[in-house]
Amino acid sequence: MIIVAIWFVSRMPFLIDDIISAQKELHKFRSTLHTHKDSDDHERFIFPFLCGSYFTYRRIDVERIASIAKSVSNDPSYLDIGCGYGDFLEKVRQYLPKAEGMEKSVEMFFKLGRYKPDYIKIGDAYNEIEKKYDVIFVGWMEPGVDYRDKIAEKTEVIITTFDKGGQCGVNGGCEMEVFGYERVASWVTPSWIDVNTELMNKYYSKLSDEIIKSLSKLRGAHNLWYVYAKPKYKESIKRTLRKQEEENQVNSPYPHEKILDDCGFEVGELLHSGPTSLELWKISFDA
Ligand SMILES: C[S@@+](CC[C@H](N)C(=O)[O-])C[C@H]1O[C@@H](n2cnc3c(N)ncnc32)[C@H](O)[C@@H]1O
Repeated sequence: MIIVAIWFVSRMPFLIDDIISAQKELHKFRSTLHTHKDSDDHERFIFPFLCGSYFTYRRIDVERIASIAKSVSNDPSYLDIGCGYGDFLEKVRQYLPKAEGMEKSVEMFFKLGRYKPDYIKIGDAYNEIEKKYDVIFVGWMEPGVDYRDKIAEKTEVIITTFDKGGQCGVNGGCEMEVFGYERVASWVTPSWIDVNTELMNKYYSKLSDEIIKSLSKLRGAHNLWYVYAKPKYKESIKRTLRKQEEENQVNSPYPHEKILDDCGFEVGELLHSGPTSLELWKISFDA
């Protein structure tokens, strides 16, 4: 039953009824399967929309984003488009207190009785971004939807994260070069579906360790994080990210990062994607 709920929520655009079904499955999970000591942290990977995020992020992702924003302004403004319930945004706000979110669906707050903080504005990125921001973060565009031109009017620095298949724009690409931006840097994180599969197999199935190990070889999906900026910001952003990398001073990990480690998605882990291997969280810089 849980798998059904995940499938509904992962098929965006979702209907509010799908979220309500997922919420029921979450209650069921809590009353029946919630037996493992780390079940609270598991929830975010089993019900990402309700309990966490579709980005299988670590603190290093949040710190990279914060340092990019701080290289643009001392007191940066930041907008997360399609922020959902704001799990990722909340983490970013610990570093960038002015960070705001924009979320199209008002129903997902009010029909589910979820609190909507003031820093999340209900609106459609397509025509309701009212002011300019130092950085805009885009983690989702529905297939066939393309509001890159709208974002381009509102910022000079854009950070995107999309899965390998690409959900962005009519052709599935989210390149910003056509709007006068240059790609500055990129890195790769695991896909939540791979983490979810691994977690369910490891903690909530009776599969043998051997089978789980052989299934893990089927992984290959991942999320790509791209940083785009107008040329004048490119070098300073690179310098900031390089400095952060050299200093290697990431603060203590979030509790849920333990689950990523336990399921084999450690920083530096190799992900085989076709003929190439990708190193998780390794940053690469564009020329
Ligand atoms: C895949 S969910 C991701 C939510 C959240 N960022 C996360 O990591 O879990 C995409 C979210 O984008 C919102 N969304 C879709 N199109 C939007 C638009 N044009 N403007 C604002 N939000 C939008 C949806 O309502 C949904 O909550």
